[in-house]
Amino acid sequence: MFDFFKRKDNSPAIEVLPITTDIHSHILPGIDDGSPDIATSLQLVKGIYDLGIRKTVATPHIIGDLYRNTPAIINEALDVLKEACIAEGINIEITAAAEYMLDDYFLQLLRQSSPLLTIHKNIILTEQSFASPTGNLHEIAFDIMSAGYKPIMAHPERYHFYHNNFDDFSRLKDMGFFLQVNLLSLVGYYGKPVAKAAKYIIDNGLADLLGTDMHHQRHLDTLQNPKTLKIFNEIFSDKEFNQLSLYTDEAV
Ligand SMILES: [Fe+2]
Repeated sequence: MFDFFKRKDNSPAIEVLPITTDIHSHILPGIDDGSPDIATSLQLVKGIYDLGIRKTVATPHIIGDLYRNTPAIINEALDVLKEACIAEGINIEITAAAEYMLDDYFLQLLRQSSPLLTIHKNIILTEQSFASPTGNLHEIAFDIMSAGYKPIMAHPERYHFYHNNFDDFSRLKDMGFFLQVNLLSLVGYYGKPVAKAAKYIIDNGLADLLGTDMHHQRHLDTLQNPKTLKIFNEIFSDKEFNQLSLYTDEAV
């Protein structure tokens, strides 16, 4: 009875995600805690292609203490994946940016005016530590925008320190962040409090973007689960989620 999302080209009805462009994933081989090798990357890419994704932005972590990925490292891994996709005949557009942890290393890059890797135009994907709120987030947001960038906050629903006061999500937007909800959050993958926060963000029209934040096969398995697709269908009422704000000039 459920009217699952259909492909836009009206090919045989299969279950697909409510987005066709994914702006958050860890599918590049061997450079962060996502895919460890090219074989895994190909499996993940095939999986999201079958779920209707036609353009994906790979966003490996850049974290001062863990992954000091540079544009050169990221672009080299991107080239490897793109070539492998061509060889396998997977017709998907793949570009790369990064998921910047808002740590001292990021502030150093910003102050040095090192060119940041953007999702689109001047838009960068950022994240915070899950352990505790970033103390001077207002100032950091101001510095990012003063440097000419517009930040997306990745998965705001996953930060437990926002779970007691959902007004904080509006405050993030007031600071200038776009909000990107993880699809997996909505189906309880990260637990009930995260699902509740994600639902709040969607229901209150605060979500600018959705993403898979795909790291590994378990994420893909969950996205492919018919129960997952049923939940998306209920939440998004059989419409493709509008990732519009990222792709209009109003964003820049
Ligand atoms: Fe991520």
